[in-house]
Amino acid sequence: MRVLLVGGGGREHALALGLQADPEVTELHCAPGNAGIAEIATIHPLVISDNAAIVALAQELNVDLVVVGPELPLVNGVADELRAAGFATFGPSKAAAQLEGSKNFAKEVMHDAGVATARSATCTNRVQIEKALDEFGAPYVVKDDGLAGGKGVVVTDDRDAALTHALACQKVVIEEFLDGPEISLFGISDGKTIIAMEPAQDFKRAFDGDEGPNTGGMGAYSPLPWAPSDIIEQTHHDVLAPMIAEMAARGTPFVGLLYAGLSLTDHGVRVIEFNARFGDPETQVLIPRLKTPLGSLLYKAATRNLEGVKLEWRKDSAVTVVLAARGYPSDPQPVGEIAKMPAIADTHVFFAGGGRILSITGIGDDLTDARDRAYRGISQIALDGSFYRTDIALNASIAEKGN
Ligand SMILES: Nc1ncnc2c1ncn2[C@@H]1O[C@H](COP(=O)(O)OP(=O)(O)OP(=O)(O)O)[C@@H](O)[C@H]1O
Ligand SMILES: [Mg+2]
Repeated sequence: MRVLLVGGGGREHALALGLQADPEVTELHCAPGNAGIAEIATIHPLVISDNAAIVALAQELNVDLVVVGPELPLVNGVADELRAAGFATFGPSKAAAQLEGSKNFAKEVMHDAGVATARSATCTNRVQIEKALDEFGAPYVVKDDGLAGGKGVVVTDDRDAALTHALACQKVVIEEFLDGPEISLFGISDGKTIIAMEPAQDFKRAFDGDEGPNTGGMGAYSPLPWAPSDIIEQTHHDVLAPMIAEMAARGTPFVGLLYAGLSLTDHGVRVIEFNARFGDPETQVLIPRLKTPLGSLLYKAATRNLEGVKLEWRKDSAVTVVLAARGYPSDPQPVGEIAKMPAIADTHVFFAGGGRILSITGIGDDLTDARDRAYRGISQIALDGSFYRTDIALNASIAEKGN
């Protein structure tokens, strides 16, 4: 099978690792790719927002499967154009990608599907905004309706800051604060059937102790030894399956990766958000743990053939730590040259982009072991002007030792 992977970040590097390990994948192409991906796939230059160029490349390479990584081309409708040109495509249509592209749309679908989420109000003017802020109270949760490259959400106790952010958005979703640990749980869907992956936990804030601004993710780990044992089944039953059924009933089936960001509150599982694609740090811990061959799996999803498929996982734990440029996310500064790449067994290095430079995933018998490898790797990279969090998976690894 010839595969074209679209994208060039840390997520695509992890997906490329999984795809090239599948014996069914005979040719792996990636566009635009990055320096790390170039070592395991043939890379091709590409402007990610150019749908016609993506279709033309798939035609030129005569691929059997296209996997679209990032949200931008999905929201731009590239999957529709690829399917119209006859390509088996892993990635939702423009209409289905609205689950990520519009927070208000996602709320409407959740409402119709009976999926539990934070109570919310969608506002387009100051009167509505002030009413919603006062109704839900502090901490205020204010979300730009549209794609905002990770900068659309403000969670704050400061009403003025909440109001300022809300007024800067054309359309804004204001919602109740959900109190509980957050997890990410991904489902792979063919439009009718959705298969839940194992959960991961992502660290979104820039600095240790969950301080600083929200980022695209500073690290992640999987599995979650502390999570309820039925979390996968429960999320499949209460969240993923009803969403897929509702999207199909609307005539806009979701084919691709449905990312559920969840809060495990005292009142049960609540959806924080959906994304229409893999998340970078989570993918870097899930793909190394997934035994099921990735190319064949995504092909089955793209060709509506997932029924009866079961995922197989390694018993290993995985921890990934992101190395970012100082100033990330608001203002990443130029960094020096990487003097030395770490050579530690059972680690993977994934190249990223946009302020995140790379991440190192450690694989081990348990989280403590995996964490140790990831941090030994990252501490060997002496890179001027970079930083990383030192507490990724720390609490989970302490709790694990207590068991
Ligand atoms: N209702 C809520 N209660 C508490 N925290 C929230 C709530 N909604 C969002 N957050 C926090 O803000 C973060 C970002 O929110 P959300 O995931 O909706 O935004 P996003 O910009 O689409 O994120 P991503 O880049 O992961 O797609 C969440 O991971 C969570 O930590
Ligand atoms: Mg999102």
